[in-house]
Amino acid sequence: MRVQVAIIGSGPSGLLLGQLLHLAGIDAIILEQRSQEYVLGRIRAGVLEQCMVEMMERAQVAGRLHAEGLVHHGFEILFGGKRHRIDLHGLSGKDVWVYGQTEVTRDLMAARTAAGAKTVYEAENVSIHGFEGTKPLVRYTKDGKQHEVECDFIAGCDGFHGVCRPSVPPGAITEHERVYPFGWLGVLADVPPVSEELIYVSHERGFALCSMRSRTRSRYYIQCSLEDQVENWSDDAFWEELKRRLDPAGVARLVTGPSIEKSIAPLRSYVAEPMRFGRLLLAGDASHIVPPTGAKGLNLAASDVHYLSTALIEHYRTGRNTELDAYSGKCLRRIWQAERFSWWMTNLLHLFPENGSFGRKMQAAEFDYVLTSRAAATALAENYVGLPY
Ligand code: FAD
Ligand code: PHB
Repeated sequence: MRVQVAIIGSGPSGLLLGQLLHLAGIDAIILEQRSQEYVLGRIRAGVLEQCMVEMMERAQVAGRLHAEGLVHHGFEILFGGKRHRIDLHGLSGKDVWVYGQTEVTRDLMAARTAAGAKTVYEAENVSIHGFEGTKPLVRYTKDGKQHEVECDFIAGCDGFHGVCRPSVPPGAITEHERVYPFGWLGVLADVPPVSEELIYVSHERGFALCSMRSRTRSRYYIQCSLEDQVENWSDDAFWEELKRRLDPAGVARLVTGPSIEKSIAPLRSYVAEPMRFGRLLLAGDASHIVPPTGAKGLNLAASDVHYLSTALIEHYRTGRNTELDAYSGKCLRRIWQAERFSWWMTNLLHLFPENGSFGRKMQAAEFDYVLTSRAAATALAENYVGLPY
């Protein structure tokens, strides 16, 4: 088979890229190692920046997002028992949308099916070749049969554990990493959210987050140890620990119920540079990871795809490669800003026992500054709603 662009991975970055290329008349295939049901079953991010919503509009898949997504003008921080609202709209002029990654994925998959675009699910043993020359090639197995796809470009949208980044010669790539000494235990439950807006909690016992997917479905997280196992956390134990970290007003309004999903995610900051290797272009988690505290992972995938789709469209429409040459630099500038913000939010709100009482005092002073300085609060808000593309 021959296509113009072979996209590896049908997460948000691969699907969004596929849709934007389809609308531009560029022929692409998506190869995904998992089944469609598996991809749709993964519970991940929930907050979209305004720029990402605009990307969904450009991709002509924003109908349900506008009908069902919840616009949030602010969020709260509960620090040492004291609540403070960050007025995102008042401080930055922008909002964020609560709309689950699962729904983003579902909308993009539906558009792909409607367009009759090619996707191969359960593609095994995907391997990429020849991207340093002019004739890249992708091999995969499906139902025991070997297949080959010839293409002009390979888009590595296959996430942190994918095959594309490890296929780059080690000398050509530089990695930067910070692994945090804790994880997040997340619970999804069909109960109304504790509050209209998200609450980020910094407590002596550790971080917690009250989020949501809709007016009837809540998503809660608590900071946990890296040794913790999901099986050892009953629903009751989770709710009890969450209550310990909330204020009395939160506890009074919290509705508990059986979990419909429960998982532990480790926290990591990671960037691999550059993002282009000849005719291989990495996007999304394939090239960078942020701790979820800043709600940036999914949104960064969208900004990468903005730059990548622009570059490929320029190439096919004009024959010029100006944007392809600028791809890595433009993405990385925004990525490093989001890395900094996610690292800062993580440091501000989590319990780091190894930092002792001095570390806790530094967090309190930082929070006090955000609380009393409009400049500090504006910096937080500008980053949370997303820096411009
Ligand atoms: P992915 O969504 O990882 O998609 C990559 C796709 O490639 C997958 O479908 C995978 O199956 C496929 N693939 C992998 N290897 C191969 C291969 N060899 N061949 C073919 N296909 C392959 N962000 C937030 O903002 N908030 C959160 O709360 C949050 N929670 C998260 C929880 C977890 C457990 C994880 C892993 C991430 C979380 N994130 C969160 C980050 C956010 O979900 C990601 O940034 C986002 O999914 C990135 O999209 P992507 O398309 O680049 O990668
Ligand atoms: C979520 O709803 O899953 C969520 C929201 C905000 C974050 C992280 C995760 O910062």
